[in-house]
Amino acid sequence: MDRPNVCRSLDLGSGIGSVGLYLLGLVGREDMELVGLEAQEVSHKLAVRTVARNGLAHRVTMLHGDLRDPDAIPNHEKFELITGSPPYMPIGKGVMSPHPQRAHCRMELRGSIFDYSEAARRWAAPGARFVFVMSARDDRTEQGPAAAGWTVLERMDVVFREGETPMIAVLTCALNEDGPHPPRREEQLTIRMKTGRMSPEYRALRQQFGFYVDE
Ligand SMILES: C[S@@+](CC[C@H](N)C(=O)[O-])C[C@H]1O[C@@H](n2cnc3c(N)ncnc32)[C@H](O)[C@@H]1O
Repeated sequence: MDRPNVCRSLDLGSGIGSVGLYLLGLVGREDMELVGLEAQEVSHKLAVRTVARNGLAHRVTMLHGDLRDPDAIPNHEKFELITGSPPYMPIGKGVMSPHPQRAHCRMELRGSIFDYSEAARRWAAPGARFVFVMSARDDRTEQGPAAAGWTVLERMDVVFREGETPMIAVLTCALNEDGPHPPRREEQLTIRMKTGRMSPEYRALRQQFGFYVDE
């Protein structure tokens, strides 16, 4: 995956802010602005505190709201990059954690990838990219963005241990109307080899993104 170079980014279901804030550091542009939108008050408050403690309030806004609400973003702003890691388990299909933050991360208590894809489309600037992570085994991972008018440009399936089937997938989408788009790219990333060691490609990716490699 290429390193993004964006000015305005929106993180949907931003939780405690880790994905959005990591992206801000990765892009490394001093003029980059980030908006996070999170429905759970407890997570939202933690994100606000993190932003303040890191002196980022001049370019990071953490909003408390529901991404299904078209008025959740003031002034109907548009963004070049929209990210999200939606809950992936329909209500009634899995065991609900008694811990609310965990339950809201996993169970589709406030919508699914269909709602995320629609929200991403609503707040997308022309030429925008929508990047999300979802279950690799769920047909809705492709159906959600397609239903909202997104074309998948890249899909990376992630295998946690060599030889197993992929568990999660990272998809990069562009707006249909911004086409014609290049042929879709597909790749697979293995995290650990059968021995338990990190795979060479995962080590390289961690190093590229500035993460510690401990082996
Ligand atoms: C898998 S977690 C993502 C956590 C986040 N990336 C972080 O760094 O903390 C999904 C998050 O989306 C939030 N969420 C789910 N549906 C939402 C909705 N309709 N509007 C706003 N946030 C939502 C959940 O509350 C949860 O915090």
